[in-house]
Amino acid sequence: MTTVTMTVNGREVSGEAEPRMLLAHFLREGQRLTGTHLGCDTSQCGACVVHVDGRAVKSCTMLAVEAEGAEVRTIEGMANQDGSLSVIQQAFQDHHGLQCGFCTAGMVMSAAALLADNPKPDEREIREYLEGNICRCTGYHNIVKAIMAASGQDVSAMAAE
Ligand code: FES
Ligand code: FES
Repeated sequence: MTTVTMTVNGREVSGEAEPRMLLAHFLREGQRLTGTHLGCDTSQCGACVVHVDGRAVKSCTMLAVEAEGAEVRTIEGMANQDGSLSVIQQAFQDHHGLQCGFCTAGMVMSAAALLADNPKPDEREIREYLEGNICRCTGYHNIVKAIMAASGQDVSAMAAE
């Protein structure tokens, strides 16, 4: 076992990790941050996306020890300081960008990374960026709509689904 230390949602945390422990398991089991979901463990579904040093990363593709010293952000760190939903989270709620919710944390984290790089993405750019995020409820249309709304674009002409 190795002691791993990183900053998670602005707080320094340490925990014991076997060398093969995935970052996703370190966060979920070690830190009880269960908002990060595991849908496949094989880098396909995107349910486990978190930010590591500002980049969207599938946390099932990274070892906990590789995140030593990193700044990690999870869905639990996405709300505003006063506890209210962030603009992206609110847009998902307003535009019904979730059904069962299993994919939602990963979608929100990916969306936040996209908007940080590209503040006004068009529909095609959003769909391309979300290629690594699977929604088993197939709610893609409203997810795309929510992200466009979160970026301040007019979505009134987009059909509801
Ligand atoms: S659990 Fe990481 S991509 Fe599916
Ligand atoms: S809302 Fe159910 S998997 Fe996406």
